[in-house]
Amino acid sequence: MLQTQRPQSGSLPSPILFFSSLILLLVFPLFPLAAVCLDGSPPAYHWDKGYGTGINSWLIQLEGGGWCNNVSSCLVRKNTHLGSSKRMVKQIPFSGILNNKHFYNWNRIKVRYCDGSSFTGDVAAVNPVSYDFSSWQWQDNPGSDIPPPYRGLKMVTNLHFRGARVWLAVVEDLLSKGMRNAENAILSGCSAGGLASILHCDSFRALLPMGTKVKCISDAGYFINTRDVSGGHYIQTFFDQLVATHVLILSLSPHRYNI
Ligand SMILES: *[C@@H]1O[C@H](CO)[C@@H](O)[C@H](O)[C@H]1NC(C)=O
Repeated sequence: MLQTQRPQSGSLPSPILFFSSLILLLVFPLFPLAAVCLDGSPPAYHWDKGYGTGINSWLIQLEGGGWCNNVSSCLVRKNTHLGSSKRMVKQIPFSGILNNKHFYNWNRIKVRYCDGSSFTGDVAAVNPVSYDFSSWQWQDNPGSDIPPPYRGLKMVTNLHFRGARVWLAVVEDLLSKGMRNAENAILSGCSAGGLASILHCDSFRALLPMGTKVKCISDAGYFINTRDVSGGHYIQTFFDQLVATHVLILSLSPHRYNI
């Protein structure tokens, strides 16, 4: 079983951008800082409101999209829709479980993924990484915003590693918008979002009222720690770098996740 606590420090109410899937209802930057995307922009979700018999049923899908495992890859991601709500389109077609006919009149929410850590980072400091770019190659990183003259210097990355705060801020925002009256609530996700739905299932359960029927679905969200086809340790190495970069030693520690 997994047990979670809230992110530790500085959990102020957070700005959330809220997009409707069908109609642009509101975009509201609520409060300052705390829960933000890699680039410091507010997190966001799309919401198609429930109605009729589905009005108190909630289906959440956590968006997937891999991870960024080091400063270079997080800097590249920062300038995409997977790292910044400034790069997100306001309307998207709902697909997968969100498009399943059984949930047609539920509240359907797609939480956008913009932290690069499956919603697990909880680092208060901005730009916590001083990085030696002496081995960094411009031609290998054409999408990056690090020009060659800065090679070898300490970088001002302006990166935020706050995925766990994004998770908590989104759930609290949804609770305030009616999810606290939920009769049914499902947390789902695919790939990096599927891993997030495993990691946050117990916190989801704990944040909802005792009477709510809660289920979690992880679609392709379990990444086996074994050798890859070429005999290497790709997964182990990659997740090791992910944990180091987003400082997950704190937010995934056994004190917080009873595993
Ligand atoms: C960062 O990780 C990517 C894989 O995501 C890898 O290709 C790249 O070489 C790494 N960069 C550094 C500086 O370690």
